[in-house]
Parts: sequence; C-alpha cells; structure tokens
Amino acid sequence: MSTGGVRFRCHGCQAAVDPAQALPFRCPGAGAEGDDRDHVLVPDDGGADFPGGGEPDPFLRYRTLLSPYRLARAAGLPESAWFDIVGGLDRALTSVDGRGFRVTPMGSAPDLARAAGFDGELWVKDETGNVSGSHKARHLMGVILYLRVLEVAGLPAGRGLRDRRLAIASCGNAALAAAVIARAAEWALDVYIPPGASGAVVKRLRDLGAAITVCERRPGEAGDPCYLRFQESVSRGALPFGVQGSANGLAIEGGRTLAFEMADQLRQAKAACGSLYAQVGGGALASALAQGFHAAVARGVLDRLPRLVAVQTSACAPLERAWRLSRDLPLAEATRARSHYMWPWESVSASLAEGILDDETYDWWAVLDGMRRSGGHPVIVGEDALARAQQLVRRHAGLSASATGTSGLAGALVAPPATGSLAVVVSGAAR
Ligand SMILES: Cc1ncc(COP(=O)(O)O)c(C=O)c1O
Repeated sequence: MSTGGVRFRCHGCQAAVDPAQALPFRCPGAGAEGDDRDHVLVPDDGGADFPGGGEPDPFLRYRTLLSPYRLARAAGLPESAWFDIVGGLDRALTSVDGRGFRVTPMGSAPDLARAAGFDGELWVKDETGNVSGSHKARHLMGVILYLRVLEVAGLPAGRGLRDRRLAIASCGNAALAAAVIARAAEWALDVYIPPGASGAVVKRLRDLGAAITVCERRPGEAGDPCYLRFQESVSRGALPFGVQGSANGLAIEGGRTLAFEMADQLRQAKAACGSLYAQVGGGALASALAQGFHAAVARGVLDRLPRLVAVQTSACAPLERAWRLSRDLPLAEATRARSHYMWPWESVSASLAEGILDDETYDWWAVLDGMRRSGGHPVIVGEDALARAQQLVRRHAGLSASATGTSGLAGALVAPPATGSLAVVVSGAAR
C-alpha cells in the first residue's frame, strides 16, 4: 500500500512510523529499559502551501496541512472522501453537542487591554464556544480523523480498530472533549478520573456514554494515579485518546488548527503579534501553538514568530524548572536525558487554575523549543493574578471562562511585553 511519504518521526530517537502500517501514537522506541530519551512522534511537514480557502470548518480549510488528510489522499481516497468524513462527524457533533467545528472568533480587545494596563494591542482568541466548550476538542478531532481515514481507506494500521476502546485520563475539558467526540464517532470511551472530580463533569461524561473509573492513589505510588491507570489500559490495547503528546503525537497536530486560524486572522487584519501568552499544563496547547505558528511563518503568512510566553502557576511549575535547568545547553542534548529536566512536581498545591496542575509537562521539549526559537520565556503567576485575569476577561471582553482558561492573560499581567502587541487564547467555558 503506497503511503505517499506521510511519515511520523520521533523528535528524541528519530524512529520513523508509517501511519498506514502502524498507529503513530506512542513512539515505538519509548519505554526501553534504561532509556532516558524524550519521545514524541511528529508528522513530517508535507510541504503544502498555506491554504487560501474559506471553508468555515478548520478541518476542511486547513486540510492540506493535516497528516490524516495527506494519508487519505496518498491511500487513494478522493477529495470528496475527506469532505464526507469531516462532514459526517460535523453532523454527529452538532447532534451530540449542538455545534461542530467552525473557525472561532479572534478580535482586538481595546477595553481589556486598557483595563489590564497594556500599551500594545491585545488580541483575544475565543475558544469558549468551540466544541465541548474549549480548544481541547481540536486535539482529539485530529486523532479521530486519522482513525476514520484508516477505516474508510482499509489501511493495515486499522485492522481490528473498532474492537479497541478509546482511553483518556482527565476530569476536565479534555475529558469532556473526548466524550463528545467519541460519542459523535460512536466509539466506546474509558475515562480515568480522580476521586474529587466535579459532579457536573462526571454527570455530563456519563450522559455522553463514557465509562468512568475513579482512581485512588495506591500505596507507595508516585505520579498521577489517573495517568498511571490510563497507561495500563493502553498497554492492554486501548487507544490513547488524551492530549499528551508523549502518549499520542497526533493529538498535537489537530491543535495546530488553532494557530493556523490565529495566523490567518492576524494576516487578514494586517496586524502583527509580538507575544503570545499560553497557559501550560501538560503542554499540548503551547506545543501546538508553537508548531502551528512555525508552519504559518515558514509559509509566509506572518513575518515573524510571536514570542511564546508559557504561563504556569506557582502551585505547579515543572516547565519553568526545565527551562532553568536546560538554559545553557543545546536543546537537542535535553532530549537525551529527560529525567534531568522533567519529572513530576513534588507537591502540587491547590490553585484557581486547576486545569494546568499537571505534575509533568508532557510536551515540555517542544514548548522549550518554541520559546527558544521565538525569543520567549516562561512566567509563573500567583492566585491574585489568576483571579484578576478571570475577572477582567468577564468584565471587559464579555467572556465567561474558567480561571485555567484565562491564565494566559494572568501571565501578561505579571510580565507584560516591553513593547508590541500580544495575544491570548481564552478557553474553557465557565461551568
Ligand atoms: C482551558 C484550558 N486551557 C489550557 C489548558 C492547558 O492545556 P495543556 O494541558 O495542553 O497545556 C487546559 C488544560 O486542561 C485547559 O483546560
């Protein structure tokens, strides 16, 4: 079966995976005894120009930049098959969640900029109205589109797929996104949640048909019990349907549509963006933004990369620690000794921004790379800034978002850019 050269390659060990033959989720080189490399599979660039189409669905508009589309075409499916796959999921999403994917709004927010005390223009990308209420659904749409292409094209990697359940460890926006998309795709989903998960989220997950496992910490266990149970289910054959790039590199790719939209919207407005403040938990959002803006700048959509500023809270800041520890090294060296730079934060405390308390930044390397390439840096925020950012966004941008979803702005309150304009992604509708 020809694959037309669509390939995934691990940024740590360079292992290559042909997505027609094997699932390009976890790197096949990961997990070997004594291995300390960082492993994330990344699709090749493909070389397509930046799309100029006006389709309202980003998975149609930016299809030529997505590896599942390229795989579909390389496997001999006609253009219309992609429209059928995306269109079918869109109709199902609309019936499950009342909306499908549409380019989300981004606008200049002068009132908010003034209230926050910024000199430069402030751009707000609003993801609160996206499928399931946050940008997380973009990540998982990338994965489900790949699975659907395998099925429709009858590719070898798709053998026995429907006998395998999807699995995710989350009790927040990622779990909700996974449950909505799994329901739309009529695929069974297991969700691993902590004992204290919000009752409203658990109810919605149940209503969407997800099977829930509550994960208590086992005696002597280090790390997040939900993530450990998730990993065990994947080793028994479940398909990783979370947003950690180390478990499923494809999840990052779908998230890049967010950056494509932002770059397009800035170009249309003839505007520049000096700095991009992104909230960081597991790191998939910031990694996707870094990669997406890189692809857009390489294609001439914008003149330069916005400085990527990664925002974490003082309750849990493993990425900022990795940044300090690796500052004087070529970054390639850090991929060879992961445990020296990234390990679980020892004592995670409570925070308003509960969605970014991941004890590890799974996609740390790509975010450090994105900050280095763009001249950015990390910033740590406290609870006051988190509360103020959420309030400012509600009052001056009219958006009702969680404190997690406005924590990018909190970073800009604490460490505003010296000059120039800035952008934030407001995500996660308040519940
Ligand atoms: C609204 C919102 N923004 C940002 C993030 C951070 O994303 P990531 O875990 O990809 O760093 C999360 C994670 O849950 C979130 O819910």
